[in-house]
Amino acid sequence: MVAEVGSIAEAQERFGTLLEQQAARVAGIREAPPPTDFAALDTIKIGIIGGDGIGPAIAAEAQRLLEELLAAQVASGKVEFGTIDGLTIENRAAQQKAIPDDVLAEIRDYHVTLKGPTTTPEQGDEWPNIESANVAMRKELDLFANVRPVRVPRLGIDWMFFRENTEDMYALGSQGLSLGDINMDFRLISDPGAERIIRMAFEYARANGKESVTVVTKANVVKTTDGAFLDAARLVARDFPDIRWEGWYIDIMTAKLVDPKRRTSFQVLVLPNLYGDILTDEAAEFQGGVGTAGSANIGTRYAMFEAIHGSAPRMVREGRAQYADPSSMIRASAMLLSHIGFPDLGQKLDMAMDLCSQYEKRIQMTGRATGATSREFGDYVLETVRSADLADRWQAAVERERAAAP
Ligand code: IPM
Ligand code: MG
Repeated sequence: MVAEVGSIAEAQERFGTLLEQQAARVAGIREAPPPTDFAALDTIKIGIIGGDGIGPAIAAEAQRLLEELLAAQVASGKVEFGTIDGLTIENRAAQQKAIPDDVLAEIRDYHVTLKGPTTTPEQGDEWPNIESANVAMRKELDLFANVRPVRVPRLGIDWMFFRENTEDMYALGSQGLSLGDINMDFRLISDPGAERIIRMAFEYARANGKESVTVVTKANVVKTTDGAFLDAARLVARDFPDIRWEGWYIDIMTAKLVDPKRRTSFQVLVLPNLYGDILTDEAAEFQGGVGTAGSANIGTRYAMFEAIHGSAPRMVREGRAQYADPSSMIRASAMLLSHIGFPDLGQKLDMAMDLCSQYEKRIQMTGRATGATSREFGDYVLETVRSADLADRWQAAVERERAAAP
């Protein structure tokens, strides 16, 4: 919560407490447990969190697809599904908590979760100004990497974003200070926090045959924090002499993403939290908007997969929740499948989604009664996933699109 302080001395004391808390958190980064080995688990537990607003409706469609693709694993007991209720704005407001304690305890029982959007209150709206549930979950479970792919084969776009997910303006975003007319938020980037996300980006580049990593900051102006991020990149890059890397400033990066000649050269991008938040929305727009992009929140122990968009309370108020587009949740499910050790299933779901939402588009979603419902779209993807000629159809569609590319 924003703290009103009465004096500089009080502000200093609060700032001291924040530093102590953050020092403890950052020390923990160096002692993080090894990553979960999904192949070694007897049972992988997947928790479905509906969230609020349009969340439950679109989560249901994603779950249906996951259950279809993982039918054999569920039958053998390798995979188990469960439902986590209570991460709704009503319950969170009633308990005055970003994530109620019992809900958080339940979430910790699952190896991975698929989460529908949750309402984020802001100063002045009808809800108590509690922290965003996404942001709280990212911090509580130390989900330090926000991985967001954007692919538009027709335009030659194939980007993988590694957005740092626990620090920057988000670390203390609910703990700013106000003294009289002065309002201050704090920005924090730690050395190990920067190193681990940058390392993940380089490792991804190496494992996936990518030649370059682009590190995005504003280190010319924001010297201490962005400077540390860039220093971490220099350090990590030494371990990857086979990968080219470049530092870019966020302003020109934002511009070059819309430059058709320049943008196709970017491959893997790594950036602090807030720049990543903004740039990934811009990037997703080329693919059809934030409603079409999935997002993976990865830590060493836990991982949470979610839609990149919000809970659309207006759609619910206007009685249109059943027309919400589940694409983003389904994309997130594809990432979940790859993460838990079934990349072939993840790829299958991605191909079906490419066909249903970009190439073949046999049904349209408009968000209202003029278009298909979430359920109808879910049926369409399900039928596409099941079709025997999925890979051929996808290949043919990509070639058609490339040939038609400007
Ligand atoms: C996102 C969202 C969240 C964020 C909001 C809902 C708090 O915009 O996942 O990009 O800012 O991270
Ligand atoms: Mg965002």
